[in-house]
Amino acid sequence: MATITELPGGLAADVFLRDYWQKKPLVIRQAFVDFECAVSADELAGLACEESVESRLIVEQENGAPWQLHNGPFTPEQLTSPPAGNWTLLVQGLDHWVPEIADILDHFRFVPNWRLDDIMASYAPPGGSVGPHYDQYDVFLLQAQGHRRWQFGGRCDAGSPRLEGTPLRILSDWQAEETVVLAPGDMLYVPPGIGHHGIAEDECITLSVGFRAPTTDDLLTGFTDFLCSETPVDGHLPDLNPELPDNPGEIQPQVLEQLRSLIVDQIDNPRQLALWFGQFSTAPKNADIVMPAEQPMQADELKSWLASGAILRWNEGSRFAYTGLEQQTALFVDGDRYLLSGDARPLAQVLCAASRPDQQALLALCADDTLAELLTVLHNQGSVYFE
Ligand code: SIN
Ligand code: CO
Repeated sequence: MATITELPGGLAADVFLRDYWQKKPLVIRQAFVDFECAVSADELAGLACEESVESRLIVEQENGAPWQLHNGPFTPEQLTSPPAGNWTLLVQGLDHWVPEIADILDHFRFVPNWRLDDIMASYAPPGGSVGPHYDQYDVFLLQAQGHRRWQFGGRCDAGSPRLEGTPLRILSDWQAEETVVLAPGDMLYVPPGIGHHGIAEDECITLSVGFRAPTTDDLLTGFTDFLCSETPVDGHLPDLNPELPDNPGEIQPQVLEQLRSLIVDQIDNPRQLALWFGQFSTAPKNADIVMPAEQPMQADELKSWLASGAILRWNEGSRFAYTGLEQQTALFVDGDRYLLSGDARPLAQVLCAASRPDQQALLALCADDTLAELLTVLHNQGSVYFE
């Protein structure tokens, strides 16, 4: 099974996770040798005009105001004559629309699929940047075209001074600790909370490989909503040991303890937690990402395609994960769950390991009609397709 043991550029992944991940920046020269960017500036501009693509234009000075933000979709005219001065075009989720960009993500599967987010592209003419800032998430900044001068370093947080008059969170009074100029194929890793600022030296495209980590708020609200929707919890709080109150205005401690244990009992449900988290973390970013197959197949057809050597791959925006439950394995694809009995577990393992799952292994597993049917469902709903 495809386990990634090295970072692009060769550093051992366990060393990276131990010494750098979430801790300190790392510059990797020629992480991708002879790197060629699969999208041009014109193609990025084209995508930024599409309704289903999330895009932003950041302008360093506009009508006297610093770091102004415009959200896409844009008209071609807006992008052919952008505002004067320095600007940057950002296209989010580029991997969802460009298969060659989606393939880049496979080099980063030394962290689990559910932690991988997407690839954002930035295009800037010389001088363009998004301003000095820090992010809440880890990011690898891969130089795809041209050169970018990165200044980085210094821990920042919500208390760090910010520039007024901009909707963006731009650091003021920030001093970088290091400066590097990255060329195509070079990469900078920046952990959450570390200030960074990258200025285009020439016509420049940078790809940001982004990661995610749910907020505690996401976890609490998401899981409790899920619990209530899965099994509606009926009933009202009983009054088990009524005691004559000293003061009718007091909420007695035993009532609070009763509330606490009722809530804890509901929440302490490892199976439901696993099911919720798998569905939550594989849910597609938006409704346009997973589109039903234009040519739906029957299971037999799918098997003969596999047997003929056709390559089955994940839809670029689809997310795959699995987890072991007591007697079962839960496979999660695009926010849905599929419960597999014990001996079907290898299907989940094969399907989730890489964006082009092991073809022979899939074919062998499809000898089981139920698994062939499941794979056919995933194909027909658009989560996997034949290249
Ligand atoms: C950029 O590519 O210009 C900005 C990406 C980032 O700083 O996270
Ligand atoms: Co950033």
